[in-house]
Amino acid sequence: MIMKKFAYPIKARILASALSVAAIAVSAAESGKSIVSGELWPDDKGIHINAHGGGVLFHQGVYYWFGEHKVAGGAGNTAQVGVGVYSSRDLCQWKNEGIALGVDDDPKSDIAKGCILERPKVIHNAKTGKFIMWFHLELKGQGYGAARSGVAVADQVTGPYRFLGSFRPNAGVWPSNVSDGMKKPLAPEESDRLSKVAMPGNFVPEFARDWVFRRDFAGGQMARDMTLFVDDDGAAYHIYASEENSTLQISRLSDDYLKPAGKYIRVFPLAFNEAPAMFKCRGKYYLFSSGCTGWAPNAARLAVADSIWGPWQALGNPCSGPADRIGKTFDSQSTFVLPVEGKKDAFIFMADRWRPDNAIDGRYVWLPVRFGKDGRPFLEWMDRWDMDAFNNR
Ligand code: GAL
Repeated sequence: MIMKKFAYPIKARILASALSVAAIAVSAAESGKSIVSGELWPDDKGIHINAHGGGVLFHQGVYYWFGEHKVAGGAGNTAQVGVGVYSSRDLCQWKNEGIALGVDDDPKSDIAKGCILERPKVIHNAKTGKFIMWFHLELKGQGYGAARSGVAVADQVTGPYRFLGSFRPNAGVWPSNVSDGMKKPLAPEESDRLSKVAMPGNFVPEFARDWVFRRDFAGGQMARDMTLFVDDDGAAYHIYASEENSTLQISRLSDDYLKPAGKYIRVFPLAFNEAPAMFKCRGKYYLFSSGCTGWAPNAARLAVADSIWGPWQALGNPCSGPADRIGKTFDSQSTFVLPVEGKKDAFIFMADRWRPDNAIDGRYVWLPVRFGKDGRPFLEWMDRWDMDAFNNR
């Protein structure tokens, strides 16, 4: 192996690295004022932005982009470093602000190096002045079985964030939109039967019995792909793929944003949505999501509701364009919707083009959310665009 590594002549290596630096410098100059989805996106040091499954917080005139800091190769699918943060005033040029939350070298920690820490989102609590980060956490060595939520807090937006702990949300609380007849833990024989069912991440008849949230009543609901949403009145919500990925749940956070407040609903039971990303426009709540096909892209979905507590109405695939592109959300999966400050009804759909074989090379797809004549949001591919796309609409 070592021989192979050094078989590449040193001169060629220097030339190749000079060429790639030049290529990055050119694309940096070009992309300085526009968004170019799917390409390398250099930061202030010319290095591809490393903030996957991310979300953006606007605070005091500056945007902060938080995301998974991945490393090269397949190891990048586990957390070797933590959550990175970048800052920007124009959404095109980003400065690397370092690691906001680092993984822990202590193997006993819930966020031990090598755990799976995905889709971090940060919100600011105006009452406490704190910055609060939530993320999907899988304990080291347990694959995707733990399905927990991690919470961390900081006094400064860029951190350092202090890890507070992890849990499955809403333990001991029934969803508020199920019938009273369903509000009972599984009987021992139901429990026994469910424990023997393989959960492949897609439909199995046992799901139809709505058994999974009842199974998880005492220990808390499973929480994988997630986002956070803060409403106009300051109320914050945690939206996550639950019940073995079969059902989304929307859960109100406590006033300090550090824990569930004790009210949640099930959304689209058994529809297998993940990658939730919410925004609010003209009084309506919109929710992007995807189907469950792991790192491989599938068709996006959009839903709308007049109240965050529903009822939610599915609007289908929001993408417009050639069938092969829109069937896979332009080769990406949603992670967040970013409201653009100072522009009316201006939102950016943020998505990831995963590269699981070389995780650090994952790309970003950012597209302006457009609105049809009927007011319905849609997405269309754009090779290159800038914030002027939101003018004169
Ligand atoms: C995707 C999910 C990603 C990651 C991946 C692992 O479905 O959206 O965040 O968990 O699966 O396969």
